[in-house]
Amino acid sequence: MKILNTVDDIREEIKAARKVNKSVGLIPTMGFLHEGHLSLIKNARKENDIVVVSIFVNPTQFGPNEDLESYPRDLDRDRKLVEEAECDLLFVPEVDEMYPSGYKTYVEVEGNITKRLCGESRKGHFKGVTSVVSKLFNIVSPDRAYFGQKDAQQVAVIEQMVRDLNFDIEIIPCPIVREEDGLALSSRNIYLKPMEREDATILSKSLFKAKEMIENGEKDAKIIKDFVTYNIMTVEYAKIDYVEVVSARTLEEIRTIEGDVLIAVAVKIGEPRLIDNIRMEV
Ligand code: PAF
Repeated sequence: MKILNTVDDIREEIKAARKVNKSVGLIPTMGFLHEGHLSLIKNARKENDIVVVSIFVNPTQFGPNEDLESYPRDLDRDRKLVEEAECDLLFVPEVDEMYPSGYKTYVEVEGNITKRLCGESRKGHFKGVTSVVSKLFNIVSPDRAYFGQKDAQQVAVIEQMVRDLNFDIEIIPCPIVREEDGLALSSRNIYLKPMEREDATILSKSLFKAKEMIENGEKDAKIIKDFVTYNIMTVEYAKIDYVEVVSARTLEEIRTIEGDVLIAVAVKIGEPRLIDNIRMEV
């Protein structure tokens, strides 16, 4: 596995691969990798000749009061993990490489798809995501890019951007990877104190029960939303940011459960803010 720190160096590698008609799969990450990321690499490994992983804690997607400085980082461990997962090229740029002085250009997807759900409490977050992801797409020019479905809104926003800007890249959303007790894997789970870690399963438990209700015929989105809300509120100190039942593609609110449906939650369990979701075709 080669480790590249500059745009020129990774481009050279990609150019050489393209010359011999090799396909390229990209997994953009912010590092502190877990099984969820490794499942993305595994999928990319099956479908591409060259697998590229990027590790970049992107400052433009963090708000002023968010955890940019304290975001967990462990490059040595990450390097070993991606090497074991048979990644070919690991791209680890510094902030100056991605945003040199005088940098002025951003990519923004407009409308409810970025304004609602996480966009409401994390202003500017998706603008940072779409800007850095478009830069990575332009730098690596992959055939396919892999993203975890845990960040369902991020997937919907990136799919919208790819459609709108005609990126010739296939976006591959991959299933959420969970701990045995249901907690969705996230680099931020490390912030959970022992009791919070136990209580954090309320998110997945509530979503799984909601899924069961829908499978048993419940069609009313409000009933599902209220059920998930009250269930999460059984953990007294949980602070709900949102519980939403929406169209998975547009993230617009729905009244009747039909089609491609996403039930998404964001909840603070102590300090850490956790997100989770279930997507169902009904
Ligand atoms: O999901 C993430 O880790 C980040 O939002 C991403 C896609 C790597 C962009 O910085």
